[in-house]
Amino acid sequence: MSLSSASPDLLLISRTADFIREKFLHEGSGHDWEHIRRVWQVARRLAAQTPEANMLVTELGALLHDVADWKFHDGDEEAGPRAARAWLTSQHADPAVMDRVEAIIREISFKGLGVPTPMSSVEGALVQDADRLDAIGAIGVARAFAYGGHKNRQLHDPAVPPVSHDTFESYKQNTAPTVNHFYEKLLHLRERMNTPAARRVAEERHAYMEQFLGQFLREWEGEDV
Ligand code: ADP
Ligand code: NI
Repeated sequence: MSLSSASPDLLLISRTADFIREKFLHEGSGHDWEHIRRVWQVARRLAAQTPEANMLVTELGALLHDVADWKFHDGDEEAGPRAARAWLTSQHADPAVMDRVEAIIREISFKGLGVPTPMSSVEGALVQDADRLDAIGAIGVARAFAYGGHKNRQLHDPAVPPVSHDTFESYKQNTAPTVNHFYEKLLHLRERMNTPAARRVAEERHAYMEQFLGQFLREWEGEDV
């Protein structure tokens, strides 16, 4: 099907994918285009198994979820929702769709172990699951160390204990070594999946991370020698 004969929804999705691909192609902190592409693909798969999910809202939410992450915008939590709205407005998207996509972006982010982040829509629940699945498993390990390297963090320091961040402020200000991030966030995501399908996938990815950490800590002290 040529683009000119595609439905308005497909056109909006493909234009949004082009916009985001272009914007994130050279990003080096683990929030690159390939992360967005995986989240998009996984969210579509989850939505295909969820009859009540609207595919357009799910796909736009996935594509735009990191459009202006607070971590890279001075902690400004409104930067993402604002940028998504600006893009969708420029594309003359349906205002109701725009509202739903904006809510997903406002609600999706992890803000510390003690800070609940419920999603108010089924589409948001799927996109959050897809995003969190990409933070665990082998890809999750790679992304955590990519992020830590980007931020000049140490790999590990046994003298720095993990902290359960009970406020977003505390989570934002964290500069701990990367291994702490597993205990402060990544190992808890399995329990926080919204859908049974994502939880099943999370089991395997979680087991892989635990195995990685066990081996890492043994090697850290040369215990395997
Ligand atoms: P979310 O998708 O819930 O918003 P983030 O954007 O916080 O998650 O995280 C995106 C990626 O960056 C994840 O793979 C995450 O593990 C990694 N990351 C975020 N904060 C840290 C950190 N302090 N140390 C290591 N990796 C991190
Ligand atoms: Ni993401």
